[in-house]
Amino acid sequence: MTTADEYRLLGFTDADREDAEKLDVDRQAVTEFAAQLRRVIGTFPAEGDLTAPDDPLVSLAAFLETLPDIRRYHRELGISDEVSRATLADLGKQLDVSRRTNGEFGLETHWWMTIHWTGTIYALGRLQFLLHQVPDSHPVPGTGPGEWVIGVHIPESGPLTPELVDDSFDRAREFFPRVFPEQTVKTATLGSWLIDPYLLDNLPQDSNMVRFGRRFTPYGEPVDSQDSAIFFTFRSHDLTNLAQYPRETRLQRLVLERIENGGTWQTAFGYLRL
Ligand SMILES: CC(C)(COP(=O)(O)OP(=O)(O)OC[C@H]1O[C@@H](n2cnc3c(N)ncnc32)[C@H](O)[C@@H]1OP(=O)(O)O)[C@@H](O)C(=O)NCCC(=O)NCCS
Repeated sequence: MTTADEYRLLGFTDADREDAEKLDVDRQAVTEFAAQLRRVIGTFPAEGDLTAPDDPLVSLAAFLETLPDIRRYHRELGISDEVSRATLADLGKQLDVSRRTNGEFGLETHWWMTIHWTGTIYALGRLQFLLHQVPDSHPVPGTGPGEWVIGVHIPESGPLTPELVDDSFDRAREFFPRVFPEQTVKTATLGSWLIDPYLLDNLPQDSNMVRFGRRFTPYGEPVDSQDSAIFFTFRSHDLTNLAQYPRETRLQRLVLERIENGGTWQTAFGYLRL
């Protein structure tokens, strides 16, 4: 049974807590996925080591069931309660995003939350950092095969000011060598629509978004990802009816006009030395 304190820790809205309390999912599937999660906590599972259930709400029930396990893991590593809570509170945020996107209770991004529940990603101030090895299929300039790097992720939680970003990187420089001394980290990577060259060239150069993106040196080839720009700007996956979306901000107008002009938004890749 998840307690009121735990729901608060996980950042659930009242609506999502009420629906979570009524969760009625396949118990066997929950038990199995919870066992999988427990088995891989702290092992930096590779793709394929963990099979997320088809039903996102089975994942949600398993996350709730294994909250004590991931909290214990954090404590054993000497991770502060503040960082542990901030990291796991992404669950509440993702439920809220899912509700805003689809208009109902759900956890569309349940695969994303498995990363938090295996102890691989940490929220340090404004940014989240995912500790992983450079994949052979997508080498990062200046890093060796299998080298550990931190992938940067940007939750939707207010402005991305340069001061907050500096503070997050400062925290990361202190956190990773202390908590994961065996995984030496010298480089941060980013794969995101936020560094689509078109966005960097067409938003004001002094905006938070462009100043953030310019920190990273591009590498590799961008890949088409029209859905990302629409999803992260409007919290929708509907690419067919663009007239429904607001055009109040420069970003909203830029995202829509590019598509209307036949363009395609992309996910681009960048790195920076810590
Ligand atoms: C990344 C993010 C935090 C940037 O926010 P920010 O610091 O407020 O951005 P900026 O100040 O540089 O904004 C530049 C312009 O874009 C607008 N803008 C930025 N993010 C916006 C959003 N999500 N929706 C609508 N407009 C947005 C701003 O209002 C501003 O336009 P204006 O001058 O007409 O007001 C924000 O876009 C966000 O939360 N995105 C979702 C998360 C995400 O994309 N993560 C990366 C996943 S790979």
